[in-house]
Amino acid sequence: HWTAEEKQLITNIWSKVNVADVGGETLGRLLVVYPWTQRFFANFGNLSCATAIHGNPRVRAHGKKVLSSFGDATKNLDNIKETFAKLSELHCDKLHVDPENFKLLGNVLIVVLAGHFGKDFTPACHAVFQKLVKVVAHALARGYH
Ligand code: HEM
Repeated sequence: HWTAEEKQLITNIWSKVNVADVGGETLGRLLVVYPWTQRFFANFGNLSCATAIHGNPRVRAHGKKVLSSFGDATKNLDNIKETFAKLSELHCDKLHVDPENFKLLGNVLIVVLAGHFGKDFTPACHAVFQKLVKVVAHALARGYH
């Protein structure tokens, strides 16, 4: 369900994404804007304020891990459900992450991408990423029953 133009746009944008920077900033912002998500990362050390969160090396490292994983979606656009099947089980059965949080993370990611790309983040880019984060959130929520 992706057009050639959409695939091209996603590949193009993603090739310019710094996964460590964007990933760290995205997870950090999620923890600041939706503070209840900190519950899942209680073992990450100091999350006492926005400055502490954005300066926390474990937040940055995990953000990079999450965004690298998200990048797998961009390389497997026709196969996203299968790509995230294992992770869906992990987040559901072991981590008990409410799937609503996947949507929140996706929206934060779009804000961060827009900030990084500036004028290059066109309405077409926004639209295709909105679609992508929705499909990824849906794939991650599949293991919940
Ligand atoms: C762990 C991906 C969203 C909570 C992980 C891991 C990956 C990942 C790759 C490491 C798995 C492993 O060690 O084998 C993703 C992706 C997401 C996403 C692609 C969305 C696009 C979220 C959200 C939360 C969350 C929204 C909670 C608010 C966790 C937790 C861990 C984890 C608590 C374990 C952290 C640890 O202690 O090492 N996730 N995740 N994830 N994820 Fe996610």
